[in-house]
Formats: sequence, structure tokens, C-alpha cells
Amino acid sequence: MDVLPDKTTLRAWLASRSDRYRVLVPTMGALHRGHTSLFERAREQSARRDGEVIASIFVNPTQFGPGEDFSAYPRPLEADLETCRAHGVNAVFVPGTGDMYSEDRSITIAESRLSKTLCGASRPGHFDGVCTVVAKLFLLTQPAAAVFGQKDFQQLTVIRRLVRDLDFPIEIVGAPTIREADGLALSSRNAYLTPEQRVQAPLLHRALVNTARGITEGLLATPAAAREAFVAAFAEATLARPDYFEIVDTTTLECLESFGGAEPRLLAAAFFGTTRLIDNVGLS
Ligand code: PAF
Repeated sequence: MDVLPDKTTLRAWLASRSDRYRVLVPTMGALHRGHTSLFERAREQSARRDGEVIASIFVNPTQFGPGEDFSAYPRPLEADLETCRAHGVNAVFVPGTGDMYSEDRSITIAESRLSKTLCGASRPGHFDGVCTVVAKLFLLTQPAAAVFGQKDFQQLTVIRRLVRDLDFPIEIVGAPTIREADGLALSSRNAYLTPEQRVQAPLLHRALVNTARGITEGLLATPAAAREAFVAAFAEATLARPDYFEIVDTTTLECLESFGGAEPRLLAAAFFGTTRLIDNVGLS
């Protein structure tokens, strides 16, 4: 596995690869089974074309708001590189902040529609930071495809829009959420939960699944009824402070007023102490 510590090394590496089909998995490190499932999905995708997988590890400062956990974000680089190696990643791009961002940089990508609700409502500027760094990673690593987790469903949708609106010739692959046995979606932030919070955290997924089932079975005929059912089910999580629950159009992220047209996606976020967990499900 090649470790590429800066843009110069990355460019030299790319020049040596001619036109290989390349699949990118962008990450911020602190890799867990959720990420390794993205590597596996990328390997599957690249194997179809005798291609290769490149991962990036970069804790992107521009997507953290004031008071968020940028400086405390875990950076276990050696362990992360070992994880990449063990999962068949061919190269890892690990740039420093100064290499990615000039101090006097003055151009960023602004997303003006999909990022104003859900997580974006409480994290102003977050998705602009994500779009900017992902666009830079696309330009730098020149992949034919890139894999993102469905767990960050709003991010996945924003990235699909980025690729559409800015004409990146890149296929975006959404990979399913990996869960603990009790349903909790894997996240680096789960490590911050106290044992008591950890016991209640799977209720977020359970409430989403039960609400989705109620819709599918026709017991919850309107989004308003589904919301009430979600709120009632999640009330069991006495240590949580709900942030949002929305039923949106899967493609536009617009809130649905009724069922029957667009494909619905149920998304929720909740705080357990200062740890904010997110999750989402579709209708099966
Ligand atoms: O999902 C993440 O880890 C980050 O938002 C990403 C896509 C790597 C951009 O920094």
C-alpha cells in the first residue's frame, strides 16, 4: 500500500498509474467497521474493472463549526493505515492542513438548498466545508467512482448534487449503514457515550424502524401521524434530547406533506449529553 503524504507525491503516483479505474473512499480517519465496509464496497466496485482503491484521511477543519470537536477529533494515524492495508486499499492520501488549504484561500463551494435543513440547520457552513473538501479530493485523486456511507444521508445527497451540478464525471456509490447487534449505527462518536447513554442509544434506530414499519403497513397514513409515532417511541430514551425527526423526499430532501408520491426517507438526530447521533431508514 502506498502512503501519499502530500499533493506532490499524490500527483507523481497518479502519473505512474496511467488510466486505471480508481475508486475513492474519503474519510476523516478514526476508522471503524463502518469505514471498512466502505473499503470493501470500493474494492468490489474496482475489481469489476481491474481497478484500484484510494482512501483519503484528512480531518477537514472547514466542516467543523465553532465549539465542535475539531481539535479533539481522534487521529490514530498508524492504526488507520494498518486498517487500510488490511482491507486491500492500494493507496492512502494523507495530506496536512497546510497542503490542502492556503492560509489566504478565498474560494469555497456553497450549497444553497439541500444543506439548509436537517443536520445543516444546526451546523451552518458544515456542508459547504464538506463540498469544498470533497471537490478538492475529487480533483486531486481523479477517481471514476467514490463511495460514501448512507448513514450520513444528507451528506450523500449533497455529494450527489455536487457531482450533478458541477459536472464531475464520477459515479457516487451509497453504501449501507453498518450497525451494532442492537441496531446502533457505527460512528466514531459512539465512543463518547457513557455506559447509560450507550444502553439507550439504539432507541433512535428502533423508533425509526417502528415508524417506517407503521407507514409501510398503512397504520400511519400521514407524515404528521408518523412524526407523533416517532416522538412517542423515542420518548423511551429518557437521556436523549431529540434534535430533529423528518420524513423527506429521498432525492430532494424536501419534507413530505403526504405519502404516495416521492420515495420517503426518515431521518433523525438526537443528543445524548453533548454527543449528537444521527440515523436514517427508508421504507422496505
Ligand atoms: O464523512 C466524512 O468522514 C467527511 O465528511 C468527508 C466526506 C470525508 C469529508 O471530509
